[in-house]
Order: sequence, then C-alpha cells, then structure tokens
Amino acid sequence: MFLRNYWYVAATEAEIGRKPLGRMILGEPVVLFRTEQGLPVAFEDRCAHRHLPLSMGKLVGDTLQCHYHGLRFGSDGRCVRIPGQDQIPQGAKVKTYPVVDRYRWVWIWMGDPALADPATITDFHWLDDPHWGAKGSYLHVEANWQLVVDNLLDLTHLAFVHDTTIGNMALAEHAKVKVDRAPNNVVVTRWIIDAEPPPTFQKVGNFKGNVDRWQIVDFVPPAFLRLDVGATPTGTGAPQGKRSGGIGMRNLNAITPETETTSHYFWAQAHDFDVNNPETTNRIFEQIRTAFLQDVEVFSAQQRNLNIFANPPQVDIAADAGVIAARRILARLHDDEQAAARVAAAE
Ligand code: FES
Ligand SMILES: [Fe+2]
Repeated sequence: MFLRNYWYVAATEAEIGRKPLGRMILGEPVVLFRTEQGLPVAFEDRCAHRHLPLSMGKLVGDTLQCHYHGLRFGSDGRCVRIPGQDQIPQGAKVKTYPVVDRYRWVWIWMGDPALADPATITDFHWLDDPHWGAKGSYLHVEANWQLVVDNLLDLTHLAFVHDTTIGNMALAEHAKVKVDRAPNNVVVTRWIIDAEPPPTFQKVGNFKGNVDRWQIVDFVPPAFLRLDVGATPTGTGAPQGKRSGGIGMRNLNAITPETETTSHYFWAQAHDFDVNNPETTNRIFEQIRTAFLQDVEVFSAQQRNLNIFANPPQVDIAADAGVIAARRILARLHDDEQAAARVAAAE
C-alpha cells in the first residue's frame, strides 16, 4: 500500500549531482541528476526508445544521454536529439517528476503533478538551522515502510533493542504515556521521571544523578516522524516546560517506500547544545547510528516472517496506541486516494 500524493525524500542533497542516480521509489524506477546550474531533475528511469534505464547513461550539458542508442532528453523529459536523424517523433519523451531541494534532502512528488505544492513539504528545518547541530544518513531497509513507522511510534522497544545505547528498563516500566490524535497527526508523549540516564545520555549529557526524560513523537503521514527527546536533572522543572541544564535533541526520520518489502530510510540527529562543535555532532550521530542499525536488524527479521506468513494474526498491547492511531490514518488516506482515483478514471 502506497500513498502517492505526497512529497517524499528521494535522496540526500549530496547524493544528487552530475552522475545520474537510479533509485526505485514507490515501486517506480526513477533517475535523478542535477542540471549544470545545480537544479535537481527526476525522470522515470526508462528510455522512451527501448526501455534501458537512463541511469546507465550520462549527462551531456543539461541533457541525459541514453547509454544504448544515444537519445538525449532535456530536463522537461522531451527527446532533443536522435543520432543520425533530424525528425524527433512526438512520443519521444520520458515521464518527469516534480523535485525540490529542502533541508539538505531532495524531495520528490510521485502523484498527480498538478497537486504538487512545495509548501506542503513536511518541516525538517532542524537539519539546516544554525541554532542546531545536525548530521544525517541513509539506510536501506529490507522491510515494508510501515514497520519503520511502527517502530518509531512505540519507543518501549528502546528498553530491549537499544539497552546498550539510548534505552534502559525505566522506559518500558515507569513511563507516563499520552497519545494525542488529530485527523492527520499522532503525537505520543512519554515522560520518565527521576530515572537513571541511559548510556548515550550519560556520555553526551554529563549527568551526575537521575534525570527527567521526555520523548515526544510527532507523526505526519505518510511516513515522517520527528522526535523531540531529551533530559534534564530530575526535579528541575522540565515536565512543567523549564528545560535547562540538560540536553535536547531532535531525531528526524523520513521513510520512503522503495517496494512493498523494502524502504529508503533517511534520518538525522539534531542537538541544541554545543551546536558548533562537529565532534559533539559526530559523537551523537555515531551513538544513534549504532541504535538504528539495531532497528534495521529487527525490521528485516519481521519482514522475513511476513514474507512467509501472509497477513498473520497479531496481538495488540497498550503500548501500541500510537501505532494503531497512525495505521488508521494511513488506511483512511489510502481509501481516500483510491476513491479519488476511481472518480478521476470515470470522468
Ligand atoms: S534504449 Fe535508449 S536510446 Fe535506445
Ligand atoms: Fe529503535
């Protein structure tokens, strides 16, 4: 199940340049590159002549030249040159997709181009905001995108999957959790009061004693999760809104379906302390990366079972409240898109 009329992250800004990059997105092969002026361009990764992936070709000025028989396509997707021939057939063009650079990511619109409004791109300003230090990465995940969304909406797993980095038992046993639902948004707020800081927080926060820790997960469809996380020395007023003497971070996640069983996972960690010190940024990034590799192992093992057992029955527990709310939103949005597509097809 894919939602089409949304902006997705196609690549990191640095991945797209003058060498064409082929990437499957929502089950469609796409090729991305930049014009000589640096503007991002995305085509369907299939030559209009005989279907060779255009990502095997090369850029000649602002045209992409197919590797097979040398047809060249301009950034509007139209063929502009056929070797040895003056006449260019009408149908010699490839599908293009709207693309935009924002927050150090390249965003793509896979749905109806008439609906693509860059103003609706989900806010990830922490990635290039001078008040924050931030570093991100890309992970290829052998699992359906919704398994990644589920993972970030239920952070009790930190106690088990990440007990060597960002988790400890206090998270699962002594947390106060609240789920706020809006039509297109779920926010899961978790407070852990007067608990020992987990290993990563001890390393980067220099806490002497127990802390009050928060995790506020903000989910926006189809697959954006912005986590406001941090801790302050216990009893100093963080639950009442006074965050001082501790650390605050944003864990930022954008998941883009590749196929039904694989995903592109773009993530970054931003921090609001020691923001101009790349060593701090790197140290935090490495800790979170270690944790995320632990998650990737979990998703792919889940997916292997799901590939064996089609739609197996499953049990829900109290900690799933946020996961269930998000799945409901996604199912409704998918129904809405399908209904709109049926109406459009009938017109
Ligand atoms: S397949 Fe691309 S030019 Fe022939
Ligand atoms: Fe995790």
